[in-house]
Amino acid sequence: MNKKKSPSRTNKSRGSAKKTASSKKQETKIQSSGKNQGGSPAQGKRNLKVKVKSARGRKLSSTMWLQRQLNDPYVKRAKDEGLRARAAFKLTEMDDQFDLIKPGMVIVDLGAAPGGWSQVAAKRAKSEEGKGQVVAIDISEMEPIPGVDIIHMDFMEDEAPDELKKALKGNAADIVMSDMAAPSTGHKQTDHLRIIGLAEAALDFAIEVLKPEGAFLAKVLQGGTEHELLALMKKHFKKTRHVKPDASRADSSELYVMATGFKGRKS
Ligand SMILES: C[S@@+](CC[C@H](N)C(=O)[O-])C[C@H]1O[C@@H](n2cnc3c(N)ncnc32)[C@H](O)[C@@H]1O
Repeated sequence: MNKKKSPSRTNKSRGSAKKTASSKKQETKIQSSGKNQGGSPAQGKRNLKVKVKSARGRKLSSTMWLQRQLNDPYVKRAKDEGLRARAAFKLTEMDDQFDLIKPGMVIVDLGAAPGGWSQVAAKRAKSEEGKGQVVAIDISEMEPIPGVDIIHMDFMEDEAPDELKKALKGNAADIVMSDMAAPSTGHKQTDHLRIIGLAEAALDFAIEVLKPEGAFLAKVLQGGTEHELLALMKKHFKKTRHVKPDASRADSSELYVMATGFKGRKS
């Protein structure tokens, strides 16, 4: 399925981004065991090999981005392994550590483009072999991936949950994962609130569609305002934790919240 809807982003958020004090939570630093896709390049020991010489006509930030890309072992490995994004290794590492994805599982990937996480999910759940199911949604268009049903839509649109449920064909999900992030505004507090709004909406949806014992994974930002998100996660799941995979750049404040053992919907 490749469903198109105009990505008319509204400010209306199903999960409200509320301001709370920042907190320092326990983090789990991941070492990849390479379940299916090999280990992770040692990010901390990266040596700059390629220097971008001419920055004429290019902003300093773009030059630095390009230089970082050219020297990033995950970027090279993603290319070598036919993965669409280095982000694929973040999910790979988290799954290696916590053993979330199993063959035959039903997985929802929120904010899936360009498709790295969906590729990993389809491979590990074996949906590309006709087992299980992976349903992906993104506001940006995505090239098809074998074993993945793609919805092209803003997840914050009111109709998005129903579109996803339709794609799930009445199946409950084993995992709802969100790597959704709006482009950075450069204003830290605004970025925090936006990402928490997306994570809260993802959690609301997860609570609606997960099977008992299901898992939820979402991107947040370090030092963020996720107290309410964590409180809701703790209420509905047996275990919650923060995770910073090696593939997540050390200089990025990105972090993941992971909840396992969904307690089931309370009627
Ligand atoms: C970091 S990228 C995801 C990378 C992806 N996990 C991968 O492995 O290729 C974040 C994505 O979230 C998407 N996104 C942000 N806000 C969204 C929204 N409201 N609805 C759907 N997708 C959204 C962006 O379009 C972007 O593609």
